[in-house]
Amino acid sequence: MKNTKVLILAAGQGTRMRSKRAKVLHPLCGKKILDYVIDNAEAAGAAEIGVIVGYQAEQVQASLTPEIKIYRQQEQLGTAHAVMMALPFFENFSGSLMVLVGDAPFTRRETLRAMLETHEKNGYGVTVLTAEFKDPFGYGRMIKNAAGELLAIIEEKDADATQKLVKEINSGMYCFDAQALAAALKEVNTDNAAGEYYLTDVIEIIRKTGLKAGTYVTDDPDDIAAINSKQQLAQAETLMRGRINAALMDEGAIITDPATTYIGPDVKIAADAEILPGTILEGQTVIGQDSVIGPYSRLKDAVIGERVTIENSTVLESSVGHDTKVGPYAYIRPGSVIGQGCKVGDFVEVKNSNMGDHSKASHLTYIGDGDVGQGVNLGCGTVFVNYDGKNKYRTVVEDQAFVGCNTNLIAPVTVKKGAYIAAGSTITDEVPEDSLAIARCRQVNKEGYLKKKK
Ligand code: UD1
Ligand code: CA
Repeated sequence: MKNTKVLILAAGQGTRMRSKRAKVLHPLCGKKILDYVIDNAEAAGAAEIGVIVGYQAEQVQASLTPEIKIYRQQEQLGTAHAVMMALPFFENFSGSLMVLVGDAPFTRRETLRAMLETHEKNGYGVTVLTAEFKDPFGYGRMIKNAAGELLAIIEEKDADATQKLVKEINSGMYCFDAQALAAALKEVNTDNAAGEYYLTDVIEIIRKTGLKAGTYVTDDPDDIAAINSKQQLAQAETLMRGRINAALMDEGAIITDPATTYIGPDVKIAADAEILPGTILEGQTVIGQDSVIGPYSRLKDAVIGERVTIENSTVLESSVGHDTKVGPYAYIRPGSVIGQGCKVGDFVEVKNSNMGDHSKASHLTYIGDGDVGQGVNLGCGTVFVNYDGKNKYRTVVEDQAFVGCNTNLIAPVTVKKGAYIAAGSTITDEVPEDSLAIARCRQVNKEGYLKKKK
């Protein structure tokens, strides 16, 4: 597709979505619908991509990378009018122009390439991506002559009874000879039932110039499935999830129960990593080999090493080193870096903190804004007291330190290398290397106190 530009129509609101958000901005498995279409165009090898924006233009535009050319359609006067707004994208271009719709995320690259091949091999002026539908209601019908040549596309609203019987429908995706399209658009009018500038009208106009029109029929209806309503969005979610899981399993991931496993399109999973039921992997999450994630865990933008286990836990925007065990019921919040061979056990929360290799916080601990060295043991109930109500401060616990149970570390504070803190201490001052800190009242036993009272 080196000599092919791709233009994506994304100016419509998507009325049937009943949403204040533009249809193409709705997330599908965590990624915007339009982004899938752009990825498909890139995967097929587009030389350049243009997008026509209109409804919520600023928001749609903001989600696009700078290489993408953007054209504005202020008023949605029809599909041909939309393409006209992008005339500068192709009027001086001599190759093929592919037109796609922004709400059809499932089109396979093979299909786009096959449509283009049909187009170029036959020297067509225009080639339409079509499918045979049992129920073609609502779609433009492909009108062909006895020889099977495409003559025109007639919209549902404009079709007569015989034309309505045609089962081959227009996907709304095309390959054009860019020059033929640029010329034909000048002749499109609004003389139809909808009073719109129909892009489908260019078929007849291009044919009049002596060029031929053709179709590429796909046998996979998903290729052209567009999302028009919230119900279709939910169906698309299931379909996309299935595709993502299948591709990951083909590459070697083990997914015990794909039906309850929700994985985003950009997640990477090494071979033999195991994803257990009820697990959600989002964003740019990466899972190393032989790691076991789940059951019931949520990871977002998490980078997980090899042989890690994460059980019933949440990890957000953080990394976890090889051989570390997380959970059950741990909460690792953004900005955390957990080393190798560590343990972040039950009811442990870590936020914006570093934990060196072979350190442990086995239970009931809060590590907030901390720098924990290697081989550190944080006893049950350790609290990094990082917030005074106004500002946050860091706590440093150096290598091999041992923090006894139920200790409060009042930040900013440092526990030096190899230091030992007695259980129940509230530490406000630096603890020197290899020393023992006890910061609690001594126990006083008042013998016979209660007997005397009586
Ligand atoms: C269009 C086709 C129809 C085809 C169907 C497939 C025409 C006239 N008809 O009909 O043959 O079967 O798609 O789904 O083209 N858009 C704009 N600006 C506009 C109008 C539309 O950008 O002024 C965009 C929409 O956001 C959408 C796409 O173009 O992504 C299709 O528009 P839509 O109004 O849904 O066309 P249909 O009536 O479904
Ligand atoms: Ca405590």
